[in-house]
Amino acid sequence: MATSEVANESEVNSPDQPEVIIETRNLTKVYRDFWGRPKVRALKALDMEVRRGEIFGLLGPNGSGKSTTIKLLLGLLFPTSGHAYTFGVDATDVAKNERIGYLPEESYLYKFLNAEETLDFYGRLFDMSAQQRQDRIDELIEMVDLEWAKRRQLKEYSKGMTRRIGLAQALINDPELILLDEPTTGLDPIGTREMKDLIIKLREQGKTVLMCSHLLADVQDVCDRIAILHQGELKELGRVDNLLSVQDVTQVQASGLSAEAEAEIRGVIEKHNGELITMDHPTTTLEDLFLDIVRDSAARPGKRIHKEETAAPETETSEAEAPEAEASEAEAPEAEVTESDSTND
Ligand SMILES: Nc1ncnc2c1ncn2[C@@H]1O[C@H](COP(=O)(O)OP(=O)(O)O)[C@@H](O)[C@H]1O
Ligand SMILES: [Mg+2]
Repeated sequence: MATSEVANESEVNSPDQPEVIIETRNLTKVYRDFWGRPKVRALKALDMEVRRGEIFGLLGPNGSGKSTTIKLLLGLLFPTSGHAYTFGVDATDVAKNERIGYLPEESYLYKFLNAEETLDFYGRLFDMSAQQRQDRIDELIEMVDLEWAKRRQLKEYSKGMTRRIGLAQALINDPELILLDEPTTGLDPIGTREMKDLIIKLREQGKTVLMCSHLLADVQDVCDRIAILHQGELKELGRVDNLLSVQDVTQVQASGLSAEAEAEIRGVIEKHNGELITMDHPTTTLEDLFLDIVRDSAARPGKRIHKEETAAPETETSEAEAPEAEASEAEAPEAEVTESDSTND
């Protein structure tokens, strides 16, 4: 066994266990006041690991220590005790940050630069040739879908667009590890979905992502594993599917069943001494419903006719002739409809 606290390469590189990219051991941060007296215990003895290729979510309410953890990993803060390692190197060694991309919680981008200029500015901080920068900028702008707005100053950008250019900035050096601090906060449902899709794309490219959020819904369908922090303490850690599945409940969904067939199924459950908890029609999440409506209205402008409404003969014609205001909203200019932020702000 290695004597070091950090697992060495040969230990962690077994075929079924990808390499450890982030490791924290007993990581603790106490913020001190002006006189150096302990003020806030922001992080208490955090132990966790993130492996290559996973999307790891740090979840917790405001003030639970998520941003503190990310800053410790970047070496922007020094731990009070314990250690953080990224790529097996102590996090306080900032040279390793060349392999890391970081999207901070607050935007810090220059408002008077456009998207291309912004990325070029950050590209220059890394040792990239003009040609490399141009290729990378084109690739990133396309990835975050800002082709149409790349010459606009960032002060004209909506929150969602700003977040996406922030992500592109974080990726300029083609980092292996990406730290995202609240990537979806303040975004509308479409902006959130687009950001989540971008994060999933990063996993497809083999990147390792650590993201933090106080919104469960934002991490649950993106993250492979999550850690839940509360008041600086780790409360839960595991695979999202395991944490969310209720082990002793079996869910069955079927369509086209007659009432007799349903009764028969109830009988089968009883026969096997099971207890029927629910048998009804599933509900969708509000997020899915909203996204459905928006996608649907882009394809078919006009008022969305609900199934029950079409059943009533008199309402059918009047519903089809949608009032001006609603129709025009659905027929917003191309770029605005596809742009996530047209409903934002
Ligand atoms: N620079 C600082 N000085 C003093 N206290 C801080 C500082 N930064 C954060 N804190 C405190 O540390 C705790 C954790 O903060 P933070 O890591 O930002 O939480 P989160 O990102 O989960 O919202 C909070 O109580 C916060 O008020
Ligand atoms: Mg934070």
